[in-house]
Amino acid sequence: MRRIVTSLVFVWAPIICALLISNETSPAAETNDPSYEMWQQDYGSTHDQRMQWWRDARFGMFIHWGLYSVPAGVYKGQPIDHAGEWIMRTANIPVAQYAAYATQFDPTNFNAEQWVKIAKNAGMKYIVITAKHHEGFAMFHTAVDGYNIYDATPWHHDPLAELAAACRKEHIKLGFYYSEGQDWHHPGGAAANKHPEADVDKQHHWDPAQEGSMDDYIDKVDVPQVKELLSNYGPDTPAVLWWDTPIGMTPDRVEKLLPLLKLKPAIITNNRLDEKHLTGDYQTPEQKIPTNGLAGDWETCMTINSTWGYKSSDQNFKSDETLIHNLVDIASKGGNYLLNVGPTSKGEIPQPEVERLEQMGRWMKVNGQAIYGTSASPFGHPFDWGRCTEKTNAEGATLYLHVWDWPTDGKLSVPGLKNQVVHACLLNGNWFGWHKSLRVTSDLNGVIISLPKTAPDKISSTVVLTIRGAPEIE
Ligand code: GLC
Repeated sequence: MRRIVTSLVFVWAPIICALLISNETSPAAETNDPSYEMWQQDYGSTHDQRMQWWRDARFGMFIHWGLYSVPAGVYKGQPIDHAGEWIMRTANIPVAQYAAYATQFDPTNFNAEQWVKIAKNAGMKYIVITAKHHEGFAMFHTAVDGYNIYDATPWHHDPLAELAAACRKEHIKLGFYYSEGQDWHHPGGAAANKHPEADVDKQHHWDPAQEGSMDDYIDKVDVPQVKELLSNYGPDTPAVLWWDTPIGMTPDRVEKLLPLLKLKPAIITNNRLDEKHLTGDYQTPEQKIPTNGLAGDWETCMTINSTWGYKSSDQNFKSDETLIHNLVDIASKGGNYLLNVGPTSKGEIPQPEVERLEQMGRWMKVNGQAIYGTSASPFGHPFDWGRCTEKTNAEGATLYLHVWDWPTDGKLSVPGLKNQVVHACLLNGNWFGWHKSLRVTSDLNGVIISLPKTAPDKISSTVVLTIRGAPEIE
């Protein structure tokens, strides 16, 4: 019985908490929140300009890497439920005991260039890595205190500096994730509630070492660390600041962090800095793809198996088909896909994750032009056979039809399309870029494209339809 209650509390509480903290509130909602006004004033007018590369990119890599990769989901010999990076909270590990994992954290196999190449070969255009997760351990060389990967581990490296250099070389943008509200190590940092009904002080600590003033924590940890992250990694880095879990982030606290962003005028930030999700450039649906997309810019972040931070027991990897379909589905709804990997404490991205990314890269090499720089489907709904993305140009538009279920009768029907079709062909990577035209007819319902017997790609084949004028859909 106790086990059931415990698992209900431990497994569900963070989930309930995540639900309570909806990540899909639109900044468009009117508000008198002063931090929102500050945001609008300083960043609102440059939003479109700053978002340009991000919208073109459509596909990025999330990396959850921290001290939690040492226990890897096991505490005192017991497997611990929930995501790997939550182990300190889920198992209520005392602060000093948890901090001792740093002495075993020796990622001698870490190779920044290799990680960046894995992302690049997958077709990803940007990377966002955890600079500090809820555990409070800085994955960079901070002057705030010694609780960081450079000072506290036998390894003595700053992986963010190495990644920044490797990304620059490969023309990949690098962003930093920073848990501003939750910090389970530093006194005064917030912790997610395990008992929503007792949500009074929003701290919910389990070790006296965590007690302290949250305002002091913001002043002494968050502000200086965010300043370091925005100052020490070159003029282009970070390209994104990915805030997380704004528990306790009142307008007063938010206003201490917002002005720091001026250190990087081109920076893009997500909507998880303030409790109401009002500031920021984009929304962050987590582990789900919104059925009809979302208004404005958005990015679905998702695990490649079930955990964000490495857990040795989690082999629940998504199939190549699911991952490619997710990417296409998201692009067809106008969003970005931030797909997570969870490296080990040795500094390796697990092989099953690498293999899946290689398969995505193989697909992107042929079909990337139907993803990068595209906008949402003008049809506003999915098709039975797959999805659609669009690019507009001076004469009209290109519609990319992503065919998942190849028609057995050789006829692909695009109901509702009223435009004249200028050209139709398949993207199949053959013929040195030359694509054989496909026959197109139309009837009262729309357009019908004659396809060859077999699909060029079992998972998703792309038909390129060039149309005259802006899409007219009935
Ligand atoms: C949640 C979790 C966290 C993970 C994040 C990714 O907020 O607390 O562990 O980093 O989602 O979106």
